[in-house]
Amino acid sequence: MKLNILVTAGDGIGPEVTGEAVAALKEIAVLGGHDFAFTEKRIGGVAIVQDGTPLPADTLEAALASDAVLLGAVGGNEFNALPPDKRPEGGLLAIRAALGGFANLRPCFSFKELAVNSPLRPEVIDGTDIMFVRELLGGAYFGKPRQWDKEKGVGYNTMVYTKDEVVRVARVAFKKLTSVDKANVLEVSQLWRAAVTEVAAEFPDVTLEHQYVDAMAMHIMNRPRDFDVVVTENLFGDILTDESGVITGSLGMLPSATIGGKVNLYEPVHGSAPDIAGKGLANPLGAILTGALILRHSGGLEAEAAAIEAAVRKVLEQGFRTADLARGNMQGLTVLSTKEMGAKVREVVKQALVRA
Ligand code: IPM
Ligand code: MG
Repeated sequence: MKLNILVTAGDGIGPEVTGEAVAALKEIAVLGGHDFAFTEKRIGGVAIVQDGTPLPADTLEAALASDAVLLGAVGGNEFNALPPDKRPEGGLLAIRAALGGFANLRPCFSFKELAVNSPLRPEVIDGTDIMFVRELLGGAYFGKPRQWDKEKGVGYNTMVYTKDEVVRVARVAFKKLTSVDKANVLEVSQLWRAAVTEVAAEFPDVTLEHQYVDAMAMHIMNRPRDFDVVVTENLFGDILTDESGVITGSLGMLPSATIGGKVNLYEPVHGSAPDIAGKGLANPLGAILTGALILRHSGGLEAEAAAIEAAVRKVLEQGFRTADLARGNMQGLTVLSTKEMGAKVREVVKQALVRA
């Protein structure tokens, strides 16, 4: 299998965690005789500083010419005063739009070993396995008109969806589906609900339920096991997936894949965490699990993707933790740096694949 992967490591802990994801993918390539080529380009704050724009043209060009893009994280406090499209986050939204992926898959799972890291009781979260399908190219993130009129002291955004945008993301998600909206207040949500209900006719074997987003925020905490696939619009998905990080115990664990466009885009859910950048404290597991999604969705390498996921479980079982996961009773636990954790995962992947 041949894959050209563009790495846009971005800001903060982005370079550290993508470094470990790339190392894991290289290990898979060696073990399986695959040909993975990696190119690096700038995005976000580092690109603002060096190129004067959060998404330089050569980054975009390389992204469009690649088979998959692995993005670290963007953002930094020094850019907070810039208008939204000039900020590091503006570069991220621009590359998402250019690559065209509209369905952002964000799995949320509990790890028995990490139950102590969650403020929720183990019996509530145990066995949780939800796939959030977050619509990524619409809603308030891209809707117009949008403005902060400082003179008038008024700011507004537009949460807008066309029926086609709802239908295409609903089709990706149909599998014991919960659709989340705010149809008791918002017209855009009424359209959302009607369009998802219409798509349901194409999937007679799938059960569909609707939830309002405020209620859903509560249900995910009370009874996360009851949900299988959850489809929702861009901003609700942004919020609910961070909330779901509470189930896993650390946002540092969660991967994501954006599919449906010209080139798939892969990003861990966590941010750039500038406060711990460069210290070897960052948790690379979310990025490494994002690497597994590249293997699954861009490489068709299911066994290798599963091997990485199993290796992550195994190192947790063996008591290895990064600093963000090292809470509670530390007996039997070993705290590792970003690099050490990456190496541990590779070691276990290697053992598993060589044996197989
Ligand atoms: C995410 C992030 C981004 C988003 C930010 C960095 C623009 O929060 O991927 O969840 O809101 O989409
Ligand atoms: Mg977010």
